[in-house]
Amino acid sequence: MTIGGISLERGILLAPMEDVTDLPFRLICKRLGADIVYTEFVNSDGLVRGSRKTKQKMLFLEEERPVGIQIYGGDFASMEGAAHMASELNPDLIDINCGCWVRDVAMRGAGAGLLRDLPRMEKIARTVVGASTVPVTLKTRLGWDASSIRIVEVARMCRDAGIAALTVHCRTRDQGHKGAVDYSWIPRIKEAVDLPVIVNGDIVTPDNVQEVFAATGCDAVMIGRGAVINPWIFRQAKHFLATGEHLPDATVEERVALLKEHLRLSVEYKGERAGVIELRKHYAGFLRGMPHVSRIRMELMQFTEAAPILEHLTRFLELYSPRPQPA
Ligand SMILES: Cc1cc2nc3c(=O)[nH]c(=O)nc-3n(C[C@H](O)[C@H](O)[C@H](O)COP(=O)(O)O)c2cc1C
Repeated sequence: MTIGGISLERGILLAPMEDVTDLPFRLICKRLGADIVYTEFVNSDGLVRGSRKTKQKMLFLEEERPVGIQIYGGDFASMEGAAHMASELNPDLIDINCGCWVRDVAMRGAGAGLLRDLPRMEKIARTVVGASTVPVTLKTRLGWDASSIRIVEVARMCRDAGIAALTVHCRTRDQGHKGAVDYSWIPRIKEAVDLPVIVNGDIVTPDNVQEVFAATGCDAVMIGRGAVINPWIFRQAKHFLATGEHLPDATVEERVALLKEHLRLSVEYKGERAGVIELRKHYAGFLRGMPHVSRIRMELMQFTEAAPILEHLTRFLELYSPRPQPA
């Protein structure tokens, strides 16, 4: 798959996730092998209004490249302005969110709401492509509901509008994040349209990655929640694709070491208090499957500074790491 200057063979991408794929988490996933990382979705109205907090969501480091800035909105002028502002930061691509199912977004004619008005989606796509100096991709769902799946039509529209790649979360808006994904539309898109297609939805293991590539003929896969519970998935899946062998799961020591590094990055880029508080949502994922996880999580939640968290994690490791056996 080629998107502007990005060239990938069976790429494995980190999905954009609000409040999750901030700079520290993107760096973690990048270092563990994610081929493209995306910012959280950025509200175009907020950007053109000059909201500092919204603008900050677009900031990224050179180390993250290739990186995409995702924008959303239903207003043409705002989306045009947002595309200009995102372009100024020179990301590797700008992605248009046409998949957000949340009522506040979808019912206001943005996100997945655009699936109910394809001419509007097309105009948004053309507007953003016209205003951007970098390639533009689009992320959407199969359709609004099971009776209105028009993803092949959307793919044709994207190609005609100059979209460089299409990501499909293989659910409808009605399904939210639940219910079965349906990958069977992907081969139909690939047959109908010459456009890179990225498959998303319920890909959580290296076997899932291989199965989705084999079953759909897609160009890349995108992982969201699977990376939150296991950021090693990128490295593990690449190894499995290349060798057919499974890497072992991350050990308790590796999980704790990565959590400490995540804390360090959070504090470095957000300041101590915000960094510590915003890391809280990651404890469950990083510590998943470890002994006494809910108690440790509760204990970690009470801290607002980094030092006691680091101490606590070190003590936790001493308690639960296997002790050397006497000879
Ligand atoms: C907490 C959370 C936040 C999300 N925020 C975004 C977002 O900002 N932009 C977007 O395109 N999708 C967003 N999504 C959807 C994911 O990108 C992805 O499409 C969805 O989770 C399905 O993939 P998965 O099964 O690999 O998680 C979000 C999902 C979650 C769970």
